[in-house]
Amino acid sequence: MSRKPLIAANWKMYKTPAQAEEFVKKFLPLVAEQTRAEIVLCPSAISLAAVVAAVKDSGIAVGGQNMHWAEEGAYTGETSPLMLKAVGATHVIIGHSERRQYFSETDEMVNQKILSAVKNNLTPIICIGETLDEREAGKTEEVLLRQCQIALKGVVPESAESFVMAYEPVWAIGTGRTATPEMAGLAHFHIRSQVARLLGRKAADAIRILYGGSVKPDNASALANQPEIDGALVGGASLDPLSFSKIVDY
Ligand code: PGA
Repeated sequence: MSRKPLIAANWKMYKTPAQAEEFVKKFLPLVAEQTRAEIVLCPSAISLAAVVAAVKDSGIAVGGQNMHWAEEGAYTGETSPLMLKAVGATHVIIGHSERRQYFSETDEMVNQKILSAVKNNLTPIICIGETLDEREAGKTEEVLLRQCQIALKGVVPESAESFVMAYEPVWAIGTGRTATPEMAGLAHFHIRSQVARLLGRKAADAIRILYGGSVKPDNASALANQPEIDGALVGGASLDPLSFSKIVDY
């Protein structure tokens, strides 16, 4: 089954609206010819509107980096799925390890956010991955299976076919340490098998599983050559238009 590669930029807490616009202006001509991969830019909530306007008619999609599961309410500082939709976002990163680590997000919260994204027609980019301690204790597979199981509770298989998952080993994020293509390939295989057990083969074959964690122009193609890897979620190397365009083009 052929899945169209997807390359997503996670800009984290970088780039003001003006800087985000500047990025898009430089980036668009660099990827104007490519049709191989889908591209999703995920700026901070405050820069979403500027990026949506800047990518208009380019085929590039825009996503949030996080959202609350409620559609509205007294949740100071949060962004709701309705707000993401209204500003023109089509995707949303859910359960990034930085959200789990610094903002105490649990698997159960990730599950609520996924159900809410589906209800509101946003494509979730669901992040999972083991910490260094978990890997060294031989628990990688167990952790991934648990994170998948809780995240996907109550999801209807048909709605999952458009899901994007991202395998992001926590020890590889922002560290310059990348999982080897073989390590990542094996983790992706475990994730897809778990999705098949939970939601059936059809959904498992359709879901795109991205690799994330120190993806750079020089390691992107080795990772992408793994049959189980359907693209990349890129942090640091997505901040520069040229380096991100090279990853899109690998
Ligand atoms: P990195 O971040 O590419 O800077 O390692 C990836 C991510 O956090 O999604």
